[in-house]
Amino acid sequence: MTASKKKKVWLFKLGLRIALYSSLASGASSFLVLIIFSGLSLLNSFLAAFGIAILVLLISYFFNYKLQYNRLNKLEEISRNISKKRFAEYQDITTNYSDEIDYLVKHFVKSSRTIEREIQRLNRIENYRKEFIGDISHELKTPIFAIQGFVETLLNGALEDEDVNREFLKKTMRNVNRLIYLTKDLMEISKLETGELKSDMEPFYLYEVIHDVIDSLHHKAERDEVALILNDFDKNIQVKADKNQIKQVLINLIENGVKYNIKGGKVEIDVVNFKKDKNRVLLIVKDTGIGIDEADLPRVTERFFRVDKSRSRERGGTGLGLAIVKHIIEAHREQLYFDSKVNEGTTFKFTLRKVH
Ligand SMILES: Nc1ncnc2c1ncn2[C@@H]1O[C@H](COP(=O)(O)OP(=O)(O)OP(=O)(O)O)[C@@H](O)[C@H]1O
Ligand SMILES: [Mg+2]
Repeated sequence: MTASKKKKVWLFKLGLRIALYSSLASGASSFLVLIIFSGLSLLNSFLAAFGIAILVLLISYFFNYKLQYNRLNKLEEISRNISKKRFAEYQDITTNYSDEIDYLVKHFVKSSRTIEREIQRLNRIENYRKEFIGDISHELKTPIFAIQGFVETLLNGALEDEDVNREFLKKTMRNVNRLIYLTKDLMEISKLETGELKSDMEPFYLYEVIHDVIDSLHHKAERDEVALILNDFDKNIQVKADKNQIKQVLINLIENGVKYNIKGGKVEIDVVNFKKDKNRVLLIVKDTGIGIDEADLPRVTERFFRVDKSRSRERGGTGLGLAIVKHIIEAHREQLYFDSKVNEGTTFKFTLRKVH
């Protein structure tokens, strides 16, 4: 026999107590009324009052049982489930008496749902924290061990050789820079992922921002022999967004377009009307680079995901750029689309709200 079945055959003690009090009260008052007004003998009055008391006891117990037992039982079941963290089992509780017990049941269910949501939220944060710390320590290890290796070799005698010496210091510097970028990106992504960084929405001219970004990346593109092309669009288009965050999105996308490209390749930037919503524009960053395999494509916005770890590392990549892009676009409640073909190129698109 299960615990709940066992419960059902038990006596409803509260109901019985209320019924007993009612029956005592009605028995005593009937006895008094009978003795004063009916002219019955003491014994007969007592027997009649006793009969009435028994009747009241049974009727009262029956109603108490019907009105309270099931719902109190439900409350007990809910609290037992909560203590076992089983929240889903009372999702469909309906109440139809609109009295204090119903009110209690309703509020009990409501509070347990709040507890459930809070537990889930805390679990999510905790999992995120664990994963994040795991990822960070993994990512920090590579440059730190590299620096340790170079410095050790230098200390073990390589310092004497001028050429080796310079080469190793350059490599050490590259890894130090990697650590600097990594910590900067980590701060940014953790703020974005926990929702700490709020977007500061303001209207601005899209052309100016895109122009600034292209200017800042011009040197890198030239060095890699990749052409940066901004196709014509209405210079008067204004959008409402966080200017610095959108700048960051464009930098990350265009930088990728350059970084994962080939010599003589190009990165084209377009701004067009968004067909699905006339209040929005679509920003397009399209490259003619190495492309991303179909199987890897859905994962590129995950933090620390890199298709080719060694190629990314060698170019200073930490695998956070697109995760930051995704979070910024989500925080703006805009859409991000991407598509790619290996050896043909990659296209990233995102929407922004226009200011009329
Ligand atoms: N335009 C692109 N063409 C080809 N591969 C790309 C492109 N953009 C991103 N990727 C792939 O997706 C991965 C994740 O990109 P992401 O920008 O997040 O990281 P990253 O460039 O490695 O490092 P960083 O944090 O410096 O941006 C890259 O490592 C690369 O493999
Ligand atoms: Mg990148």
